[in-house]
Amino acid sequence: MFGLGCLSEAGAHASSLNLSRVALYTDKGISASDHVDKVQASLIQAGIDVVIYDDVAVEPTDESFKAAAKFAQEGKFDGFISVGGGSVIDTCKAANLYATYPAEFLTYVNAPVGDGQPVPGPLKPHIACPTTAGTGSEATGIAVFDLLSMKAKTGIASLHMKPTLGLVDPLVTHTLPKNIIAATAFDVLSHALESLTARPFSQFAKPETAKGRPYAQGGNPFSDIVAKEALTIVGKYIVPAVTDTDNHDAREKLMWASSLAGIAFGQAGCHLPHGMSYAVSGLVKDFRPEGYPQGAPIVPHGMSVILNAPSVFRLTGVHAPERHLTAYKCLGGTHEAGPSEAGDAIAEQLIDMMKSTGIPNGLQGVGYSTSDLDKLTDGAFPQKRLMNLAPCPIERSDLHQLFAGAMSYW
Ligand SMILES: [Fe+2]
Repeated sequence: MFGLGCLSEAGAHASSLNLSRVALYTDKGISASDHVDKVQASLIQAGIDVVIYDDVAVEPTDESFKAAAKFAQEGKFDGFISVGGGSVIDTCKAANLYATYPAEFLTYVNAPVGDGQPVPGPLKPHIACPTTAGTGSEATGIAVFDLLSMKAKTGIASLHMKPTLGLVDPLVTHTLPKNIIAATAFDVLSHALESLTARPFSQFAKPETAKGRPYAQGGNPFSDIVAKEALTIVGKYIVPAVTDTDNHDAREKLMWASSLAGIAFGQAGCHLPHGMSYAVSGLVKDFRPEGYPQGAPIVPHGMSVILNAPSVFRLTGVHAPERHLTAYKCLGGTHEAGPSEAGDAIAEQLIDMMKSTGIPNGLQGVGYSTSDLDKLTDGAFPQKRLMNLAPCPIERSDLHQLFAGAMSYW
């Protein structure tokens, strides 16, 4: 569901799903916002019993997922509502899963970290209400978290985890600080660009059983269409949405692109910029960007993704030049680049957009130096699921080189 003010329809949609008692998941940064008030009031008006859970962690972990699941199990809810960014929506997916099909935590977690068991069946209804124009989590069946014991980012992925309904209300973008708009829009951009350049589904072996089919299947004709549209929108609107805080139209367009890109990468999957981002955000030193809570240091997700992207696409351009050139054109590139220039063309286009929107100058801009290259490489290399979707085989030495290339751009 997409439209200005649609958060106020949460109660009506919950009623039509026959819900009578729901858990509303959010985090402490959002719980006092108008968005939660609006959704809660709409649910109450529809005669629905609402219990709020606002202990969602900004970077969820297995511990915070387990706590959220315990709340879901004990509360005897017949449905779930999430109001927040990707962390909140992902946490709500996991809580719904473990409340509906209780199991040891690692049962459904992606192999090889977890057992990778398929989710047994449909979950309870979940209405997702995103409050940023970034993750597209309302459109995917993926929940990402940090497994504390292994210091690794991993996730749970299943079609059954996809929310029943997303209420995508572009009004939420009007009040977001410009740095948050920039970081989340680059997350959208990279979801779309990684989907468009992901290894095609036709290059993977056919799974032996239907249940063995992976959630992200590689690039395919449907994800291509959706990714191109998302790229075109972000290319046109990212700079005005960041530089002119009153340009509501540009911000609303990014919200639409966010859902489109979520649909694209939910089908195709992401690859190197996201795989590398987990090391960039996980090893954060002392970076505290403006517009974000000033407690713990953080490299916001979209920023940790896009800092790697120009370096990645310079390498991958040669392996799928037409797709990189298509993306370059969608993003507004006008130079008549040939196939051998595809990677550089898209990289330069991204760098221009990063400069225009206040993104730091590469990994050095968020506190890393060349002495961190080994640690960054070690942190990202185990992300096999994402590495396998790159358009070319990736060895450890390639990854090292990609991080080196991402240190600074201008
Ligand atoms: Fe992302």
